[in-house]
Amino acid sequence: MRKKIVAANWKMNLDFESAEDLMAELSEKLAETEDEGPEIVIFPPFPYLEMAIDFSEDGAFLTGAQNIHSLDAGPYTGEVSAAMLASMLVDYCIIGHSERRMHFGESDAFLAEKVRAALKWDLTPIFCCGETLDQRNENRHFEVVEAQLATGLFHLPESEFRRVVIAYEPVWAIGTGVNATNEQAQEMHAFIRSLIAGKYNGDTAAVTSILYGGSCNAGNAAGLFAQPDVDGGLIGGASLKADEFLKIIRSFPPGK
Ligand code: PGA
Repeated sequence: MRKKIVAANWKMNLDFESAEDLMAELSEKLAETEDEGPEIVIFPPFPYLEMAIDFSEDGAFLTGAQNIHSLDAGPYTGEVSAAMLASMLVDYCIIGHSERRMHFGESDAFLAEKVRAALKWDLTPIFCCGETLDQRNENRHFEVVEAQLATGLFHLPESEFRRVVIAYEPVWAIGTGVNATNEQAQEMHAFIRSLIAGKYNGDTAAVTSILYGGSCNAGNAAGLFAQPDVDGGLIGGASLKADEFLKIIRSFPPGK
């Protein structure tokens, strides 16, 4: 019904040679997998994107950028546009990762413009949302996620919204080794799906892939991916080792 996706967010990790080794191992081992698995997307640092695209030519995985600018070109030193990535045949981009919100001050309004740029250039955006620990402790997690989606995504008409993937990434779970429990993930994913149904309709809610991210690893992926509203994962640390990442990819219950 909706796409299963497992995405590797390498963040600012690995030197050129290690990145090449990891891509080579992944493309070789993924090529051996014959079953109907999830869509795999690798998000390497920008300098390694072209290499990722070369490795992706045998169809083992798709490629994505960890960030984009909202404009097509111009005097924005150090930035990369969706237009450039589209011209390299990149497939996906991450928008609104909490590390960009936190360290680079990206607002929901700016993220909404990035989403527009991604869709204009036919990149599939993975839009990240999630609350901090304080917000959860104050029982504000639902309202925080609702506001992020309302400003960052719900400006889209239905046909464009259907091209978006959402990642729920509680900030307190990212890189901490403390993942959301299966119940916490399912509860928030179901809530997000209900928001989509309310804003658009039930059909659109049913076809939108919602990934979980935040300390997802080979040990907990099966429990998380078994949840009815969890359609895969956005994996950080555990995506830097081929064997662990491959185990995560194979963690969906039979028939899902
Ligand atoms: P993590 O990161 O798996 O290392 O917690 C996930 C992410 O930030 O996308």
